[in-house]
Amino acid sequence: MDNNQNKIEIAANGPILVHGTIEIKHSNGTVETKEKMVALCRCGASTTKPYCDGTHRKIDFKG
Ligand code: FES
Repeated sequence: MDNNQNKIEIAANGPILVHGTIEIKHSNGTVETKEKMVALCRCGASTTKPYCDGTHRKIDFKG
């Protein structure tokens, strides 16, 4: 994959994986930069939203 290209991958029964250098602007206005990849919660149960913390496995998320 070209390093200058971002890619979004939907993990089976898991998070949204965003590949590339990602700038995330949070609802409180803070900005974080993630290098290479970030996993965003898709199940709604993470305690570290917007990031996936693995809780989707505990709740047996299907989607
Ligand atoms: S997708 Fe992993 S905790 Fe929600």
